[in-house]
Amino acid sequence: MAAFTSRLFNIFTRGINLRKYCTNAPVEFSPLMVQNVLELLNLKDNDTVLDMTFGDGLHTEAILKSNESVKVIALDRDPFAIEKAEALALKYPGRVQPLLGRFSDLPALLPPIGIKRNTLDAVMFDLGCSSIQLNDASRGFSPEVDGPLDMRMDGPLASSSITAYDILTKADEQDLGRILKTYGSEENSKKLARSLIACRYTLEGLASTGQLKEFLKGIFEEKSGRVIKNVFYALRTFVNNEFNELNFAILFAQGYLKEGGRMVSLTFNQLEDTIVKRHITGNVLENSPNPMPFLYYSQTFKLSQEEMDALRRSVWTPLSKHVITPVDQYKSTNHRIRNAKLRGAVRL
Ligand SMILES: C[S@@+](CC[C@H](N)C(=O)[O-])C[C@H]1O[C@@H](n2cnc3c(N)ncnc32)[C@H](O)[C@@H]1O
Repeated sequence: MAAFTSRLFNIFTRGINLRKYCTNAPVEFSPLMVQNVLELLNLKDNDTVLDMTFGDGLHTEAILKSNESVKVIALDRDPFAIEKAEALALKYPGRVQPLLGRFSDLPALLPPIGIKRNTLDAVMFDLGCSSIQLNDASRGFSPEVDGPLDMRMDGPLASSSITAYDILTKADEQDLGRILKTYGSEENSKKLARSLIACRYTLEGLASTGQLKEFLKGIFEEKSGRVIKNVFYALRTFVNNEFNELNFAILFAQGYLKEGGRMVSLTFNQLEDTIVKRHITGNVLENSPNPMPFLYYSQTFKLSQEEMDALRRSVWTPLSKHVITPVDQYKSTNHRIRNAKLRGAVRL
């Protein structure tokens, strides 16, 4: 299980303990906070936008409709999403370039289509699962539809990478506990890891999302809703290496946006938002967000002015003073939307 531990995102093993939310949620059929997203993108004629999380293509289509000369590069790691992007490319000839791959594949994917560093006008990402992924029981993302414990966003392409089932059946107790705590902010992580390991030997084991959900219900009873969200979120983000991917996406945007280009991000969990916020407002150590808020950087020694300046340095200017959240009307209807956090920043 050393391989699992080595995947733990180093910033989150240094003691961060923030609250948790999960994006395994009811599916919405309109692009989330689309007006705010378009305002922050502030697209001009002939701009090229990279939508890093094409998903169901709803944001991409809204962008295409907002200005008929804008072009979109549509990236997704999920081949089923890219099938949709190919259909959209036919509907909007010459304006959509589908790209199959992860954020971390972008440096290899862009040169062949003629995109160089410092040339993009805007990038956006809308994290979490698409409705294609959530609604397909065989993908194993949702506790609401029973299916195998898979959770790989790359789908069939990822045949050699680990699944949620691998983690639940092979990780040792300590690693499992760390994954649940670090990735899901689950406060009962130790107890839960012990129960999940015991379940391997005493019961038939857990093979499906429905079995995992029932197992957690049996242990946590009325508190199980929160635990189910945390466990599914922890497994999904670990399987897909999502925090490292997000960190990479922001560093990538830094290098590929032109001066004055815009980055717009939609996140649904405090851990994700913290990564984005610390990049934008400046609290980054060795290309990773500092796990501690700037104010509490160290209780034991005082930083020199030079060290403080280095931590505060940012290549971004935020587009709004505070994070943008959905208006109340939306908050009550869908908990994915309720927890949405929108940020925009200009590349200096
Ligand atoms: C919430 S959905 C995006 C929905 C989209 N904005 C829309 O309007 O339909 C997120 C998508 O991002 C993709 N994704 C997540 N992490 C990724 C990564 N590291 N690289 C590429 N795609 C990723 C997922 O496969 C999923 O399809």
